[in-house]
Amino acid sequence: MFEALPAKGVPGDQILAELQQLRSADLPTHGGRLFAYVYDPALDGLDELARAAHAISAHVNGLDPTAFPSLLAMENALVGAAAGLLGGDERTVGSVTSGGTESLILAVKAARDSRPDVTAPRLVVPSTAHAAFAKAAHYLRVALDVVPVGADLRAGPAALAEAIGPDTVLVAASAPSYAHGVVDPIPAIAAVCAERGVRFHVDACFGGWVLPYLRRLGAGLPAFDFSVPGVTSISVDLHKYAYAPKGVSILLHRDEALRLPQYFAYAGWPGYTMINPIISSTRSGGPIAAALATLRHIGDAGYLELAAETREAVTLLADAVTATPGLRLAAPPETTVVCLTSDAAPATAAPTAVDLFVLADELAARGWHTQPQMAYAGMPPTIHLTVTASVRATAPGFAADLADAVAAARAAGPVALPAPLLEAAATLTPEQITPGLIAGLAETLGLGGGDFSRMAAVNTLLNAAPPALREALLTCFLSLLQRPAPAGQEVG
Ligand SMILES: Cc1ncc(COP(=O)(O)O)c(C=O)c1O
Repeated sequence: MFEALPAKGVPGDQILAELQQLRSADLPTHGGRLFAYVYDPALDGLDELARAAHAISAHVNGLDPTAFPSLLAMENALVGAAAGLLGGDERTVGSVTSGGTESLILAVKAARDSRPDVTAPRLVVPSTAHAAFAKAAHYLRVALDVVPVGADLRAGPAALAEAIGPDTVLVAASAPSYAHGVVDPIPAIAAVCAERGVRFHVDACFGGWVLPYLRRLGAGLPAFDFSVPGVTSISVDLHKYAYAPKGVSILLHRDEALRLPQYFAYAGWPGYTMINPIISSTRSGGPIAAALATLRHIGDAGYLELAAETREAVTLLADAVTATPGLRLAAPPETTVVCLTSDAAPATAAPTAVDLFVLADELAARGWHTQPQMAYAGMPPTIHLTVTASVRATAPGFAADLADAVAAARAAGPVALPAPLLEAAATLTPEQITPGLIAGLAETLGLGGGDFSRMAAVNTLLNAAPPALREALLTCFLSLLQRPAPAGQEVG
């Protein structure tokens, strides 16, 4: 459609029209029908407000807070609000980061660098911890000790305790986990960590802004914040349940001493001395201003109301699942996630069983965009629904469409991949995956034209592959997509 660097500049109106046209191919970010990636409170005027606030600070540079005190003031206000919501006190400090992954990387960095005595640092997490911990461990050369969760999908304090050794610099758990939306037993894990003298990070990136309100509404959820002795840091993403535009998370530490090793400082060059609490140096004030505007506009009472609407939506969706023969909830819908599974796993499913991957496609065809999750470590494949306040309006229509989609999935039967493909999924090693092989595979699976609306065959193949092979397959596939548009050529 457009060329990023045309020979001659293009009028603004035309560019905006082109961008809108490009956006029309995306999944709907508003309207309560997309259950991953986006968080929508469905509040009139909020988008416009956040956009305007973003524009005011877009060119402000967070590199030096003494040059731009506006940004420092906004960051301190956001950190103060998060600390207040999450049981902090006058000792609590924090940083505004670009997202959950950055917050987790920095929590691991702070923990690692607080222990210079440990030459081979280790991080202990339950198997349901977010993938960003694996990324942090990989980037920071910290060994990852993954501890299986119980049948209830919660981390076990005793199992985590057993995994703690002299080189463990950090233990982490989720409040709640992304995949299933269950809250780990934070008080018991914190007690173990305190006794062993190990830092304990609560990953509340996903639900940290909504759990306090759910608790206020009477949900029987355990304490998970700084009110729990032994919790040393907490991450909470404002671009999730605080409903801010993308690019803002907060990492809190119980006190300043815990945060100090998070900083990177370098004066050993002829330029400015670089002191960064976060990974990036130059960064835009735009997302921070937009987040502040969002928080101030919604306010505490507004978030309570949004949490109540979200809970109502969760109940409606979860009831629809439990009322559907062949489906069941994979986890109790205790927070803001509805996670469902089929009575039969795809590999063994009888022809009349509901194939989850076909079901996800059928739901998408009816305008409900869910997130299929692969089988992992004895856990079955599932369909994940992140529920936000906007779903309250659409949820009453879900049950009928779910029943319809299930009937269609049953009629279609499970995906039957050609035997050689399934065999390849079981036997190929990651080293054997090449861009050429993936290009051919993408054609075979109907992805060549860039239409990703029917993904059941792809998901079935990925589900049959061990995790390391999944990683290699998808890496090559993304690399295939992420190619520069040829210079001078219009792209679609
Ligand atoms: C529990 C949890 N932690 C961390 C992250 C990573 O956040 P981000 O995608 O903002 O980097 C997520 C994202 O969904 C999450 O759910």
